[in-house]
Amino acid sequence: MLLRFKSSWELQESASTPESVFMDRRRLVRAMSIAPFLGIGTTLPYRNANAVMADPTKRFYPANRNPLYRLDRSLNTEKDVTTHNNFYEFGSHKFIAKEAQKLKTRPWTVTLDGMVEKTIVIDIDKLISKMELEERLYRFRCVEAWSMALPWTGFPMADLVKFASPLKGAKYVIMETFHDPDVAKGQKQFWYPWPYQEGLTIEEATNELTLIGTGAYGKPMVKQMGAPLRLVVPWKYGFKSIKSIVRFTFTDKRPVSFWEKVQGQEYGFWANVNPAVPHARWPQDTERVLGGGGRRVKTLLYNGYEEQVAQLYRNLKGENIFF
Ligand code: MTE
Repeated sequence: MLLRFKSSWELQESASTPESVFMDRRRLVRAMSIAPFLGIGTTLPYRNANAVMADPTKRFYPANRNPLYRLDRSLNTEKDVTTHNNFYEFGSHKFIAKEAQKLKTRPWTVTLDGMVEKTIVIDIDKLISKMELEERLYRFRCVEAWSMALPWTGFPMADLVKFASPLKGAKYVIMETFHDPDVAKGQKQFWYPWPYQEGLTIEEATNELTLIGTGAYGKPMVKQMGAPLRLVVPWKYGFKSIKSIVRFTFTDKRPVSFWEKVQGQEYGFWANVNPAVPHARWPQDTERVLGGGGRRVKTLLYNGYEEQVAQLYRNLKGENIFF
């Protein structure tokens, strides 16, 4: 496959970095220089320097931005997004960033199996080098009614499905996170059905919006966000966007996802964002913008992606497509 990436040595950083990321860095430097006078803490975004420097795919970043995906709001800072995470494998609270650094992301093998022409077991770096990475700005909406907007890097899941060559009868793809309770202490909590699993229909998986995320903010994915690869489905509640995936299994049976197994009345298979359908515990009509000092904005149907995805659900009868 033809790669369109420039090596990191071909361009100066200011020229190779997407403008908004570059501007964000400049703003960050400026903010840091005035922060002490404002009495604001100067804590930098949590970074795992070793992981970023050792990542063999680093040369692919930053990827070219796909201009089709624009936002109606400003991007969150990298700090907002990397210091407030849901990753139950590392704890059932939002501050798992430090604990998640225990995850070893190399070597990392991805398996594509089930109803496919031939099972494929592939090293993550080989897989990424076969795909064409791009940057997309997406909104992200959690069922807990907080939201953010960020620049993901990744490749269309449609390309992965093509690479897997599923058989004609395959209707769903199940995704599975690593399982290693010695590293991820949360996986010792026996009442959760580890490993974390999620599923999409093949039509959802091949929708133009569906990304396999490999990075964010112009860099490889940090561990707390689901390195080395995760799902990004911006029209669905955040729990569908499974992190640190090791397996994609094609099947003709609808899978039961992690949270659906835990609490089926609250978390269903579809989980499409809809402000008019409240969740048992969180009203969904508005959302708290992460890093926005408590600011709330109106939630949009399909999180604002109705045009791209509404047709996926038009002919579904008797399904609760919003939870
Ligand atoms: N994937 C795994 N493996 N484990 C998790 O606990 N949490 C989900 C989703 N993917 C989760 C996961 C939930 S509930 C949300 S809201 C998002 O990840 C959060 O993604 P973020 O931490 O990058 O914001």
